Amino acid sequence: MKTTMILAACLGAALLASATSVGYSAPRQDTTLQAKRQQGDRAAQIRAQIDKLRSELSAIQRQQAGQSLESEKSVKPGINKSWRSSNIEPLIKRLESESREIFAQSDLLAAVAGPLEGSVVADIGAGTGLFTRLFAAAVAPGGRVYAIDISGTFIDNILRTCREQGLSNVTGIVNTPTDIGLQANSIDLAFITDTYHHFEYPQQTLASIHQALRSAGRMIIIDFRRDPRISSNWVMGHVRGNQALVIQEVQAAGFRLVDDKPLMRTNYFLEFIKSEKKVSGTIN
Ligand SMILES: C[S@@+](CC[C@H](N)C(=O)[O-])C[C@H]1O[C@@H](n2cnc3c(N)ncnc32)[C@H](O)[C@@H]1O
Repeated sequence: MKTTMILAACLGAALLASATSVGYSAPRQDTTLQAKRQQGDRAAQIRAQIDKLRSELSAIQRQQAGQSLESEKSVKPGINKSWRSSNIEPLIKRLESESREIFAQSDLLAAVAGPLEGSVVADIGAGTGLFTRLFAAAVAPGGRVYAIDISGTFIDNILRTCREQGLSNVTGIVNTPTDIGLQANSIDLAFITDTYHHFEYPQQTLASIHQALRSAGRMIIIDFRRDPRISSNWVMGHVRGNQALVIQEVQAAGFRLVDDKPLMRTNYFLEFIKSEKKVSGTIN
């Protein structure tokens, strides 16, 4: 009997201890769960606030970008004066001369830009159509070339020479100095030889190229090196920026440099792909 009482007392104590421990631990679990739930709610609230701020910031940045593009001033007034002539023959002599490194290497440069079968290419600042005609053959069958120039004389000449050579996949566009005049997502390659330094409004022109390129579309820029060690006095005065400046401007417009081919002595060959616009101050 004594033993039973002792056992009962022990059991009672054990139950009490277990009950006590349950009694104490249950509220601790509740508190932890509740705290976790509160933290989760707070994190969700912060995330929602960040999303809201991010979308407000991006709306402001889009507005500012639009405003800054609209207020862009000509970076080199008058640089395109000499192309305004309606007399095409002296212009052909000037651009299709063996003394010009780009002309002498034109077959190689067009080949390096390929393979292009079935692609849509924009020859921006097409001039006499030197590259337009090479690309018209390279994109066939199925592809198309847009010959784009601010000079109607050049575009008329290109369309005439293409007709004469049986090239039926070329569309001519007389564009404005700020816009290449193409629909969004309509081209695979933007090709710009000896013309970037002629862009009077590079920011707006680059924005119009960016929207015209399809996702991961390419842009090739070939232009004069501007380096006192190798450049003529004429190049030093005529070309406003060196390769580093061009890369900086182009990258700021939402392109990524993927290649820099050492093909020529007095000209560089840069290849970019379309990426997203770099915007400063973005919350990550
Ligand atoms: C030096 S030529 C080069 C022609 C050709 N790409 C070549 O390498 O033989 C420059 C050309 O760019 C054109 N141009 C200048 N600004 C332009 C712009 N914003 N959009 C399109 N063409 C432009 C000029 O009319 C001229 O035909």
